[in-house]
Amino acid sequence: MQIRRCSIVMFEPRAELSLDLTLLLSGDAGLATTMQWYALAAHLDAPVAVSSEDVLLIGQIEPDRWISADMLAVDRDRLLRLVAHGLLTSDAPENADQLARDERIRVTNWWPLAALSHRMGRWSGVNSAQEMREGKLVTAHDLHARFGPPPPSVAPPDAAAIQLPGLADEARDEQLASRATCRNFDRKRALPLDALSQVMKRTLKAHAAVRPGEDMEFLKKNIPSGGGLHPLETYVISLDVDGLHAGVYHYHPLEHALRPLPHAEGDLRQSVLGYLAGQDWFADAPLHIIQVARFPRSFWKYRKHPKAYRAVLLDAGHLSQQWMLSATELGLAAYVTAAINEIDVEALLGLDGIESSPVMMCGLGWRANNQATSEFDPLARIWQR
Ligand SMILES: Cc1cc2nc3c(=O)[nH]c(=O)nc-3n(C[C@H](O)[C@H](O)[C@H](O)COP(=O)(O)O)c2cc1C
Repeated sequence: MQIRRCSIVMFEPRAELSLDLTLLLSGDAGLATTMQWYALAAHLDAPVAVSSEDVLLIGQIEPDRWISADMLAVDRDRLLRLVAHGLLTSDAPENADQLARDERIRVTNWWPLAALSHRMGRWSGVNSAQEMREGKLVTAHDLHARFGPPPPSVAPPDAAAIQLPGLADEARDEQLASRATCRNFDRKRALPLDALSQVMKRTLKAHAAVRPGEDMEFLKKNIPSGGGLHPLETYVISLDVDGLHAGVYHYHPLEHALRPLPHAEGDLRQSVLGYLAGQDWFADAPLHIIQVARFPRSFWKYRKHPKAYRAVLLDAGHLSQQWMLSATELGLAAYVTAAINEIDVEALLGLDGIESSPVMMCGLGWRANNQATSEFDPLARIWQR
């Protein structure tokens, strides 16, 4: 058997608390701490508990050179266990899946820390809304009670101020100030297809394609993008749009067209609630988009680059603001969230979570008449009208 190390792995020593009955009986709090090493590998979905001997062994095996397992003077079972976990890869047929996943990490050109940050930050089946409620961390007062006051809203000034000219508000200022994250969608009101088309055109559509060479194309859009690469791909989940069947679609930014995608039978709104990590205040929107990063597009230029992943996330930020402002302009309501169950969305869209993975969801619809979940509207621009 030939083996080599997986391409990206780092080790984290964690202090783990456990209940110790002896300590408890001696009048102590009863909590014992043990130190445990975890291997975080970029092609795996979760950290793997390893021993300190494993850490040393893995550290001796090169990622880019195949060697015979017989060359290593180590216990065969330990070696096989590390291969089974995927921390070492082997050329054995039963290890082909792990090898293929590791290969995708290699060819995608991830910067190692970004790969681990993205991979380990993905969720499956998390209900963040329930956790927030159960943990009594819903309101600002809840947070204050647990964490004390937040850092100041503005870094405290330490020099005299130079006042900038005060300018009268124009219609544009009024519109910008009317943007507010919607957490109260009218579940009974469908979204007109024209309105959806308009918001998508202003946010996602490409106005031009530039081809500097036969096999190179760059898109011009209303939003900026790191390297001009536009690595974000848009998927649409329609729940209640007039003239568009409920379903899952892919959006083509040059054609400004949707293509239906297969998805499992069942209640799509319930699935959306799951993708939104239980955030029922967003799931009521009649239309949702998922922004999926196609990392190889960005890392083609920014290879193993420390800023590349940040640039992809900044692209998502531009997109979400454009989405919200375009919605506001039409009297529609919108949201953006990063609290999503990425792994479940990957299963829906058939993504591998290495080359392609979702980074955020946005929604669009109409505001309900009543505010059941609080929105941030201190100047009453939304809820007094
Ligand atoms: C990247 C990003 C992630 C967000 N995630 C959530 C979220 O998970 N749940 C939520 O209710 N609001 C979310 N929001 C909305 C913010 O809470 C909201 O922008 C903030 O409270 C200010 O309110 P405003 O957007 O109405 O000005 C998110 C906003 C951004 C920009």
